[in-house]
Amino acid sequence: MAAQVRTDLRRRVAALTAAGLPPTLAVVLVGDNPASISYVTAKERDCEEVGIRSLDHRLPAATSQQQLLDLVQTLNRDRSVHGILVQLPLPEHIDPDAVVAAIDPDKDVDGFHPVSMGRLLLGLPGFVPCTPRAVLRMLELSKVPLVGAQVAVVGRGMIVGRPLAVLLSQKRATANATVTLCHSATVDIAAHTARADVIVAAIGRPAFITADMVKPGAVVIDVGINRVEDSSRPRGYRLVGDVDTDAVAAVAAQITPVPGGVGPMTRAMLLENTVQGAEGAAHA
Ligand code: GUN
Repeated sequence: MAAQVRTDLRRRVAALTAAGLPPTLAVVLVGDNPASISYVTAKERDCEEVGIRSLDHRLPAATSQQQLLDLVQTLNRDRSVHGILVQLPLPEHIDPDAVVAAIDPDKDVDGFHPVSMGRLLLGLPGFVPCTPRAVLRMLELSKVPLVGAQVAVVGRGMIVGRPLAVLLSQKRATANATVTLCHSATVDIAAHTARADVIVAAIGRPAFITADMVKPGAVVIDVGINRVEDSSRPRGYRLVGDVDTDAVAAVAAQITPVPGGVGPMTRAMLLENTVQGAEGAAHA
């Protein structure tokens, strides 16, 4: 599914580029967090694969908040830039909320800006965060019925669970679900997941969703990415989701794997948001 999205994007990118408006994503990384370096490198490689221009800004860990805000301002004003991504987490001396709020909402391809969140809540056009957008797209492409369905979203984080619960409950042909947002204070999460037609796990705990929590025939989307120790692996760990995948797969109608499920689609949605930004600029 992610490959199909990238194929469709290649055509839109080629059209914009031919019109003299090559879609461009500015990627900003502060410091040398190894995970962040590999994420940023992967995002730039993804851009290249579909023909999106990426501008790489790697700044030392000692960069001041003001220097970073100045760079964001420069990118905001640069009409050749359609998307700005500041990789998180930032070093401790920089307030991430201040940096995200400085990004032009019309270039906010992460969808983390308060204006983007407000537009999402109001159902107005804008940037939808990549992971919620990926989950919706996978459900849509898989033709999972959502209208009137019971959906349990487990996890209320600002990047996935919270926006996704809003999107799934909107009055649209590809949503319109009855959403239960479960979290750490929920009494008996299993009681909610067990009657759900669709379960979205975005908690950040390995194998949190077990087979007994899943209704036979349910659709299970695993958003989690957790490192668990594994001495048989060269890196000493392996990646697992929030779902006890093998056991749940025996009960569920459909399930997404980790790795190779939501992750690749999330990456494709960053590219799609960047193309959306470029098309918006072309029509402005
Ligand atoms: N760090 C981990 N995931 C993300 C993401 O989706 N966007 C940004 N900006 N930083 C991240």
